[in-house]
Amino acid sequence: MHILQKNYSLKSLNTFGIDAKAKYYLTFDAPQDFAQFFDQYPSLKLEKKLFLGAGSNLLFVTDFDGLIIHPKIEGIKCVHEDGNSIDLEVGAGVNWDFFVNYCVENEYYGIENLSLIPGNIGAVPVQNIGAYGVEASSLVYQVNGITLDTLQSKSINGKDCEFDYRTSLFKEKLKDNFLVTSVIFRLSKQPNFKIQYEGLVDKIAQFGPLNIQNIRKAIIAIRQAKLPDPAVLGNAGSFFKNPIVSENQSIPLRQQYSDIPVYPFKPGLVKVAAGWLIEKAGWKGSSLGNAAVHDRQALVLINKGEASGEEIFQLSQAIATDVKSKFDITLEREVQLIKAD
Ligand code: EPU
Repeated sequence: MHILQKNYSLKSLNTFGIDAKAKYYLTFDAPQDFAQFFDQYPSLKLEKKLFLGAGSNLLFVTDFDGLIIHPKIEGIKCVHEDGNSIDLEVGAGVNWDFFVNYCVENEYYGIENLSLIPGNIGAVPVQNIGAYGVEASSLVYQVNGITLDTLQSKSINGKDCEFDYRTSLFKEKLKDNFLVTSVIFRLSKQPNFKIQYEGLVDKIAQFGPLNIQNIRKAIIAIRQAKLPDPAVLGNAGSFFKNPIVSENQSIPLRQQYSDIPVYPFKPGLVKVAAGWLIEKAGWKGSSLGNAAVHDRQALVLINKGEASGEEIFQLSQAIATDVKSKFDITLEREVQLIKAD
């Protein structure tokens, strides 16, 4: 079944809580409903399109003059299992943390560090979500979806998804042309805990022995201490990516600032903590109108109540300009901007 709405408010559909409108808004609960939808409304095939999950990684700077496609495909089902691992196919509309909790309860290992990340399954391979030393790319076995121009189903092997830091094939070559309908995750039946993140071991110990349940509890506690709950304070997690610079460029910065967090990325390249750069530039906790920089994690921009998308965008531009002038580092947004062309 599908539902099509016109001139539809997106306020409850984006975690910044921006009151933007969509010219058309489509929801459906099975992949075949989506393919059939365009038989009924062929003219809408020409509209600009946006795939929406939980709206936890986008900022509506303006209304959306096109068709928002919001899959509500549910379900978690086992498609393969042996003594070592289990493959679970999960619908694009399933809440990510609901799925993480399901795996933790069943002791399917590998996903526990990604507890409490907001969002739905459909966005997980697009964005290659990651936290606390784990990226979704290590768990994605296959991505199933529909190619927009042909409306044919297609499955892409995890190895072919061109995953990288917060990006993938779906965000690059297949951008706006591949609707994820489900993802098959391969989870391990044996633990292989990743607990190197600073402070994680101590936090786990506060909950008891090292096991999957206590890792989940520790990750949730760490996130809740730093990251605002979008249900309480509108935000989209990290607004910027951690910038990647050459090792050479990082040398004078390390000499000047002994506390600058710099992590190895790829040969000759390092990642610099954007939150540190923003804090060092003096922005942590500051506001511009109704938009603000979170006072416990400078990488997160928040809606203090009635911020417009434009206000949050202006704040992000001011931060990026200032960081560029102070450190000669360009901040790239992690959040997807939705703006009129
Ligand atoms: N830092 C500061 N000031 C700040 C924020 C951070 O100095 O205001 C420093 C911290 O002290 C630490 C370093 O920067 O030394 C890194 O901070 P943190 O561990 O909080 O992680 P992050 O690099 O800021 C990334 C992800 C988060 C993820 C965490 C934990 C990106 C863009 N963000 O943040 O992901 O939860 O690591 O793994 O890679 C998200 O994508 O929305 C997100 C929240």
